[in-house]
Amino acid sequence: MARTYYVSLITSVTMSKEHNNKMNKIVSLAKRRGFIFQSSEIYGGLGSVYDYGPLGILLKNNIKQAWWKSMVQDNLDIVGLDAGILMHQKVWEASGHVASFSDPLVDCKRCKLRHRADKLLIAAGVEADDKMTIDEINDLLDKHNTVCPDCGGELTSARSFNLMLKTHLGPVESDESTVYLRPETAQGIYVNFKNVQQSMRKKLPFGIAQVGKAFRNEITTKQFIFRTREFTQMEMQYFVHPKYADKYYDIWKQKRMKWFLDYGISESNVRYHKHDKLAHYAKSAFDIEYNFPGGWDELEGLHNRGDFDLSQHEKYSGEDLQYTDSGTKEKYTPYIIETSVGLDRAVFAFLSDAYSTIEGGRGEGAKSDEEVVLRLHKTIAPIKVAILPLSKKPELQNLAHEIADILKRRWMIQYDETGSIGKRYRRQDEIGTPYCVTVDFDSLEDKAVTIRDRDTMKQERIAIDELVHYLQDNIC
Ligand code: GAP
Repeated sequence: MARTYYVSLITSVTMSKEHNNKMNKIVSLAKRRGFIFQSSEIYGGLGSVYDYGPLGILLKNNIKQAWWKSMVQDNLDIVGLDAGILMHQKVWEASGHVASFSDPLVDCKRCKLRHRADKLLIAAGVEADDKMTIDEINDLLDKHNTVCPDCGGELTSARSFNLMLKTHLGPVESDESTVYLRPETAQGIYVNFKNVQQSMRKKLPFGIAQVGKAFRNEITTKQFIFRTREFTQMEMQYFVHPKYADKYYDIWKQKRMKWFLDYGISESNVRYHKHDKLAHYAKSAFDIEYNFPGGWDELEGLHNRGDFDLSQHEKYSGEDLQYTDSGTKEKYTPYIIETSVGLDRAVFAFLSDAYSTIEGGRGEGAKSDEEVVLRLHKTIAPIKVAILPLSKKPELQNLAHEIADILKRRWMIQYDETGSIGKRYRRQDEIGTPYCVTVDFDSLEDKAVTIRDRDTMKQERIAIDELVHYLQDNIC
């Protein structure tokens, strides 16, 4: 729940023309090609909520599966969980969210726009951090004569604004019936620590992984799916003996960075950022930052949370959440190493990293000033293979459909028979399809097809019988 008061000026205040351009191109591609749409668009849109279209959900699911595999399948000491979005209200008192999961906000008296006071201070060159009280923030706002960045109007004093979304369970709306839409998935793991540890007979160290929705009433949003009010988190909490916390923290820092690189993120676009100012629960905190179209910013948070969470839940619930080592008989409260990444933010990073343009096109027939190639890692690409019959003659259509029927059992494929072959390649390049299979008249005779690689544009003639093996070897 680290509210990142460290915000790069480039990110929040001005976006370079080049970055802005890239952002616009990605947003436009995402809509045009069915990846991501504004929520409730026909009603003018709902602020900072996005819907994933047919290709977006495939990409998102592939990233989720790659993460789940790297956590739950590849590590025998990590198990999965799917806790409810709604939890007992005491959970959020124990976690500190009711008291301190808030942003300091000011309103413009003239244009009525609302702003985060800490961001305005940072924009004015003043250092702000999450240890500052509202009074300290107000002193700084006065001292620096801070005005509305949009219209120059006078601002109200800052006040604390809790970011949790509330609702009520049951027929009566009262304090007792209040429940929150979880602002992080982590708490569902902490409150289930004993259930999982005992039912799975896990010895420490072990981890619990979870993917699920989280909600925050974010005020400063914009930047497409970077910061939204409804989003998905992929979190893993690793429970360790306190004396091993630093060791596992380092291990997970390395592993998480490697995961992004393994799935194609360029090394030059990711870096670590160490937090000097820590959230109340953290003993140590690093971000993996990505060079988003809006500038460098947090992609994933890595925290050594100490024994804060389990101790708090023990205190508020009265349950014993300590662990007893069956060998040494030592009883202790485990430390928690957390890895926490937003799935939507990961989608944005992968899309942004994969987005490439080729001036004047690649000379494959379709004329264009600029061709877009989405160089997504094959494992996460939404569509793995496109089947393209060279003409709409029934004999070619029949063979192409036969091939499509074989391949669709294993992979997400598309069948496209409209437009020139060059145009069809362009369409597939734009959505990141690694392979195009062309069925031509020779295919009827030699029972072979031409397979084209998105990145190298190399074309190979392959026997239809060999196609599945070829793709199996080349698509992980
Ligand atoms: N359990 C720890 C936690 O929630 P956080 O730094 O507040 O820590 C972790 O969030 C990750 O969740 C962030 O690195 C980011 O990827 C994602 N995230 C947080 N708020 C988000 C938002 N409003 N929209 C999209 N992703 C968000």
